[in-house]
Amino acid sequence: MSRIQTVGIVGAGTMGAGIMINCTSSGLDVVLVDRSAEVLDAAQAKQAKYLARQVSKDRITQDEADAAAARLTTATDSTAMAECDLVIEAVFENLDLKKNIFAELDMIVRPDAILATNTSCLRLADIAEALTDPSRFCGMHYFSPAEINPVVELIEGPRTRPGVLAAAKGFLEQTKKTVIACKDQNGFALNRFFCPYSNEAVHMLDEGIATTGQIDAAARAAFGLAMGPFAVMNIIGTATNLNAVRNLSSLGPFYAPAKGLEMQGADNSPWQIEETPAPLDDATRQALIDRFVNSVLLPVCEEMTEGTATLEAIDTGARLAFRFEHTPGALLAELGEGARPRLAAFAASRGHPTDKL
Ligand SMILES: NC(=O)c1ccc[n+]([C@@H]2O[C@H](COP(=O)([O-])OP(=O)(O)OC[C@H]3O[C@@H](n4cnc5c(N)ncnc54)[C@H](O)[C@@H]3O)[C@@H](O)[C@H]2O)c1
Repeated sequence: MSRIQTVGIVGAGTMGAGIMINCTSSGLDVVLVDRSAEVLDAAQAKQAKYLARQVSKDRITQDEADAAAARLTTATDSTAMAECDLVIEAVFENLDLKKNIFAELDMIVRPDAILATNTSCLRLADIAEALTDPSRFCGMHYFSPAEINPVVELIEGPRTRPGVLAAAKGFLEQTKKTVIACKDQNGFALNRFFCPYSNEAVHMLDEGIATTGQIDAAARAAFGLAMGPFAVMNIIGTATNLNAVRNLSSLGPFYAPAKGLEMQGADNSPWQIEETPAPLDDATRQALIDRFVNSVLLPVCEEMTEGTATLEAIDTGARLAFRFEHTPGALLAELGEGARPRLAAFAASRGHPTDKL
């Protein structure tokens, strides 16, 4: 596969529209497909609004905005993507649906084109069953809003060819994304530790140690963040958060969703966060910070042992996608030789195995 110039995107919802805006703004032609013409219109309107804002902020000229808009073609029929160099799938998170889409793409899209999924929680190995040539298939996990967030996890499936990964990386860099290379493991590189981090906040609340506002404040101090986990969960939606945490459950007892998250996520209720939390005493505050650090470093160490992602990639993602000022790598370096026994004791306290530490 030479350079990627025409990108097909199936699913024009939140993510598909964002990926389309990113690609058309980076000089690529996009064929955007959705089963709903209304959704396609909404995606085009979102692009127009984005481009108008870029012009009003003097980031691009009106001619450049017009050129980006002209690079978009929309269709309700998948055959419109026949000549694409790359197709990114961004339909609902449902395995059967995604397999149907890929079985269709398998027949429609040129055999040398790359196929990618933006799945958050499904295994690439399962989706790839629908393909006659799984070696041309990989994961591209964008973060919302995809037109702005600089990070994309590039996931190597069990059969992905090295040449496909190299071309996919080239494409992502061409669209000004920072690539986090990782393997096909639940939570990939970044949700693997971000989900346990927010889940740990709910464990603390369930235990009655502190309030949501106090826990958020401790998390902000632990990682140098602008927002704590409860505030972030309210933006993502507690139901989505519960779903993402559940996706990690098969990795061991430590990853099981906290009871409070099960309850709050069941009907997508937001957390009540007090505006001015009372200050905690030093010992309690430090205990919360230590737990947050453990809840991030345990999965990070497991990932490194498994080979899911390197510490360098994890740190880059933590900084750029989640805005961690104190990255996992820096925190591990601070703990030095004390890290392993500390994390082993933490894992054991949860009945979690320590073999990957
Ligand atoms: N929303 C996020 O923050 C986020 C982040 C990363 C990854 N993801 C993943 O991206 C994917 C899409 O998520 P979303 O939030 O954009 O969903 P969404 O509900 O906003 O959009 C999904 C779109 O798929 C379309 N669709 C469904 N079946 C189709 C079919 N057969 N043919 C063509 N189009 C079809 C729907 O009409 C809809 O417009 C999911 O796999 C999700 O897990 C989401």
